[in-house]
Amino acid sequence: MPETRNPEQFPNASRIMDHFLGGSENFAVDRAAAEGIVKVLPGAPIGARSNRRFLARAVRTATRRGIKQFLDLGSGIPAADAPHEVAPEAKVVYVDNDPVVRDIALRILGGSASGRTAYVDADFRDVEAVLSAPATKELLDFSQPMAVLLSAVLHFVGDAGDPYGIIERYKAPLAPGSLVILTHTSYDYVSAPVQVATDELYGRFRVELAPRSRAEITRFVDTEGWTVLEPGVVSTNEWGSPEEPPSDADHQTNRQDAAGFAAVAVKH
Ligand SMILES: C[S@@+](CC[C@H](N)C(=O)[O-])C[C@H]1O[C@@H](n2cnc3c(N)ncnc32)[C@H](O)[C@@H]1O
Repeated sequence: MPETRNPEQFPNASRIMDHFLGGSENFAVDRAAAEGIVKVLPGAPIGARSNRRFLARAVRTATRRGIKQFLDLGSGIPAADAPHEVAPEAKVVYVDNDPVVRDIALRILGGSASGRTAYVDADFRDVEAVLSAPATKELLDFSQPMAVLLSAVLHFVGDAGDPYGIIERYKAPLAPGSLVILTHTSYDYVSAPVQVATDELYGRFRVELAPRSRAEITRFVDTEGWTVLEPGVVSTNEWGSPEEPPSDADHQTNRQDAAGFAAVAVKH
């Protein structure tokens, strides 16, 4: 069902994120809400951009390893350096459960990316629904390596929602050489007042946020049959490869604003 209320009247978290990332898929109401967020959390757009730059570096790392297909879980709006833009030869299946994202995604992906991208309107916690969706089955070949992206989304699954079980169910059917690309919010480097401001902000949006420690995040990727690529599980702005180290903008980002860890793991 398409969104019935006028999207220009109500701020939406995905469009606010798009604004933080420098995209154009947002309205005045989103930009006003973004301004309010920056007043209480000046690091929010800095962290969002740092996360997105990591994602681009990791997607290029995957393509350098010969990977040509991506499953992007909790993708947000597929613009502003989305994987199909960063890897224009690759096939990409986007998954999100926000109807605003769905409507924008279908419009964007119906254009030049048509045929090599698909959108699955699903809750990524329902692994079976995502893996058995016709679009997933048509576009992705599970006999070949692929990259599963879980970027800034697993922290919306509290421990009661079994996030470790969910990620294992995505990892199990992947071919050797496949990657998991993960970012996850953490308070390890975040001061107490900024933690309080962050909790209050998510509370206002009625979103449950489950920040995890570096050790807890490592448990998602450092599992049997998988190797975490260098430089390991590090602050999102510090992840890089010999071919593509962090950029100047990443060096200028501090760990508190990055507010999370990134990792890439490969299946044996
Ligand atoms: C913080 S944004 C991250 C967007 C993008 N992955 C990135 O890293 O820039 C989180 C996204 O996950 C989506 N999301 C949250 N919970 C989800 C769920 N259970 N199933 C599918 N999508 C979900 C939200 O709608 C939102 O678009």
